[in-house]
Amino acid sequence: MQLTKIAPLAGMALLSVSLVTACGSNDDKAASGGSSAPCPLVKAADPGNSKAPSGVPTADKAPKLAKKSSYTVAFSQNASNNPWRLAETASMKDEAAKQGVQLTVTDANNQQSKQIADIKGLIAQKPDALFIAPITEQMANVVKNAATAQIPVFLLDRDVDHNVAKPGQDYVSVLQSDFIQEGKRAAVQMAKATGGKAKIIELEGTTGASPAIDRKKGFDGAIKQCPGMKIVVSQDADFTRAKGQSVAETLLQSHPDATAIYAHNDEMALGAIAAAKAIGRQPGKDIQVVSIDGERDGLKAVAAGDLYATVECSPRFGPKGFQTMMDYAAGKSVPTLIINSDQLFTKDNAAANVDKAY
Ligand code: AHR
Repeated sequence: MQLTKIAPLAGMALLSVSLVTACGSNDDKAASGGSSAPCPLVKAADPGNSKAPSGVPTADKAPKLAKKSSYTVAFSQNASNNPWRLAETASMKDEAAKQGVQLTVTDANNQQSKQIADIKGLIAQKPDALFIAPITEQMANVVKNAATAQIPVFLLDRDVDHNVAKPGQDYVSVLQSDFIQEGKRAAVQMAKATGGKAKIIELEGTTGASPAIDRKKGFDGAIKQCPGMKIVVSQDADFTRAKGQSVAETLLQSHPDATAIYAHNDEMALGAIAAAKAIGRQPGKDIQVVSIDGERDGLKAVAAGDLYATVECSPRFGPKGFQTMMDYAAGKSVPTLIINSDQLFTKDNAAANVDKAY
């Protein structure tokens, strides 16, 4: 959510620069969102990463972290139900081991109530610092509990509601990708995949999670430039492959004229690809799929032609997370928002990156 407030112009500027060349055709209006008007995204370059956000405040009012020779740190992970989460946890554990940090990890099993209980339990153990990957923005209240207990919190990969937990005060910093930009980049790929004419099923991530909110915002905002691209239905599939498959099964039946699927992560896209194949549709031919993450199975699906493209969202937060914590302990200025740089994976580079993926 925070990026919307701090850097709303960065990605849009990149998009509009490259939208000079219009294109499109008049054929097959019925297969489109109902319009034959040209879609400037079809020939647009990948917008790439957004500019570094400007005017980000530093964390001046959050609980302090004393400089020590060794730290006891806790990490509240929201789930371990997909390769992305497993890679993030592994990255945190690996870096903790390298830095000599004693790390306790909890897994909320994709349940908000369990994550709240987990974090309360961790606060009671009085760690020097607490990393939280919040399941939804509603974790803001329990983040405030940690601040009240004078424990500095670093949010990983998702944000919380700033009306409740103030950046730089109730938590030190949030480290994440620019989810709005990811949605814009996915929209450009979808336009290329479909020639700018598509009836799109959108599989959303967990309702209330900041990537689900912002990936929708970025994609929806970008395709407004293309009258032939319409989202015909959007539904929460909880970022999981199983739900991606079951929700896609239902939506492909209720919208047999859908020509594309935008999934907020690779796991849901892979479920949707299986659902489409099960009813005789041919991903990459009569239905185009675009998603976000860049996990190994996603890259394999791109290389196989089932997935048109996936926008990377790196889960490897360990080095940057602990570096930020050490900087904070050393009294350096730490921004309240730290944004990752991410790649784009298409048929041109997916196969070459499979071995490096998670
Ligand atoms: O917050 C990042 C998202 O959460 C990733 O895209 C997804 O795979 C994960 O569960």
